[in-house]
Amino acid sequence: MEQQEWAQVVTAATRAPSIHNTQPWRFVASADRLEVRYDATRALPVLDPTGRQQVISVGIAVEFAVVALAAAGHLSEVQLLPDPGDEELLAVVRLAGPHDPTAEDRELAAAVERRHTVRAPFRSQAVPAELLDRLQAEAASFGTWFKPITRSEEEVATVFLISRAEEMEQGDPAYVAELESWLRTDPAAVDGVPVEAVPSGDPHARPSNWTIRDFVVGSRERSEFNPAGDPDAPPPDVERPTVVLMGTDGDDRVAWLQSGRALARVLLQATAAGLAASPLTQALDWPATRTRMRSRLSLVGHPQMLLRMGYPQEGPSGAHSGRRPVAEVLTVREG
Ligand SMILES: Cc1cc2nc3c(=O)[nH]c(=O)nc-3n(C[C@H](O)[C@H](O)[C@H](O)COP(=O)(O)O)c2cc1C
Repeated sequence: MEQQEWAQVVTAATRAPSIHNTQPWRFVASADRLEVRYDATRALPVLDPTGRQQVISVGIAVEFAVVALAAAGHLSEVQLLPDPGDEELLAVVRLAGPHDPTAEDRELAAAVERRHTVRAPFRSQAVPAELLDRLQAEAASFGTWFKPITRSEEEVATVFLISRAEEMEQGDPAYVAELESWLRTDPAAVDGVPVEAVPSGDPHARPSNWTIRDFVVGSRERSEFNPAGDPDAPPPDVERPTVVLMGTDGDDRVAWLQSGRALARVLLQATAAGLAASPLTQALDWPATRTRMRSRLSLVGHPQMLLRMGYPQEGPSGAHSGRRPVAEVLTVREG
């Protein structure tokens, strides 16, 4: 494939969501293959010491490349961890012949452009059960289970573990310093989480059990966002997003990459169906809360991703986050 075509595929791959928008990837393209590599210079040693969430992020980028290739008329095959001697080489995507793009291929490629994390409250409209079934089947094809949290004991346990994890994180100066180093006030920033993409109010003041990650932690007066208000005003609508837990039987790098690929498909199918999503992975950051989630929810296997989903409100749904230019992450080799 020509350099220009690879640049388009890698542009799509880099639209992948990544933990704190760290974009922990590099790409090396040659005529018929694309190497997807982990970039250890972009690690999150406090939040993600094993690299689990960053490897998941790279798995999402791999699948976004596959989607872009399909829409551009190429079948592809993915090989995970192809070289045990090369730890940073997480996947190779090989061209496997011409392909007639289907309407779905085009829809998913369009969803790559449109998708972004929406942390604002969703409309109260429920996500149809058939759609959740479809997403579950999609995840299963990557060996990843997809479990909507519907029973109230499960919800109570998960909500408790999220708030426990948030509390631990906000009390940990190293976590706060790392988080702040990835928060961006410049709207033109090419990485990190823009402050405009994070709802300005205190996540704890939202009428929801599901506390989103607090990106501005210590730098807010709690009372400032909790004004006395008009006593006659109706109470705000309680947020009841659909929340799904995704996980895998194993907990190694292959499992992380596969859950990332599954998440990519889930996010793109959801976007194509008009939904939006935001991960809320605090409870999975820490071994203590992650292990407790396994036992409290009687999970077979390991939780990898907790995702809030729903229909976005009308109007702007939060700023889009930046991406590093393709030239910075792609090397093209002759032959
Ligand atoms: C593995 C993973 C974990 C994430 N965890 C959270 C989270 O706990 N809270 C949150 O608000 N966003 C979370 N995100 C979303 C990222 O912050 C987001 O993808 C990134 O800032 C890029 O923005 P975009 O998704 O709008 O392109 C996570 C993303 C990934 C891939």
